[in-house]
Amino acid sequence: MSKAVYPGTFDPVTYGHLDVIRRGAQLFDSLVVSVAGSSVKSALFSVEERVTMMKLLTADLPNVTVASFDGLVIQHVRDLDSRIILRGIRTVGDFEYELQMALTNRNLDHSIETIFVMSSEKYSFVRSSTIKEAVRLGGDVVDMVPPLVADALKKKLRK
Ligand code: COA
Repeated sequence: MSKAVYPGTFDPVTYGHLDVIRRGAQLFDSLVVSVAGSSVKSALFSVEERVTMMKLLTADLPNVTVASFDGLVIQHVRDLDSRIILRGIRTVGDFEYELQMALTNRNLDHSIETIFVMSSEKYSFVRSSTIKEAVRLGGDVVDMVPPLVADALKKKLRK
């Protein structure tokens, strides 16, 4: 059984992340989408909110489960009895950041491999921080995030 872990902040989850999840679900027997706790970045949504949104948006994928973690990602991957980290690359701009993360993780644990999938070019410009800025300033983000995420963003950012 191949099991991969897709870690991320997912603050919030976008169509780009969901594209990576769908590709991963087809490649591995099981895929755990792991939401990083607030120690990683200061997040707009709590871990519980991000996990809930992720569960709702992946409910149609039977081999995908959602978890959360704090601390080192490699320890979390080991705890799940996996050896594979899945990440998406959108553009060449992502490459350096992803390379650094993958090599750091490899140095911390040589038995864990990072596997990349190319995200759909349709979402190559999508990133969580610009989506939050757009919503805060009154923009419509329906093409970038699912409706439940767009609604949650409006509630948080347009109080
Ligand atoms: N589609 C759309 N957007 C994407 C994307 C895709 N396929 N891939 C990345 N992004 C965007 C996100 O929207 C986000 O945008 P933002 O910077 O504006 O918020 C950014 O790119 C990256 O976010 P995300 O994919 O959620 O992952 P991350 O880089 O925040 O996750 C962790 C990083 C959590 C995996 C990493 O910090 C980690 O492993 N931390 C644990 C501590 C640790 O082990 N450290 C040592 C290893 S480096």
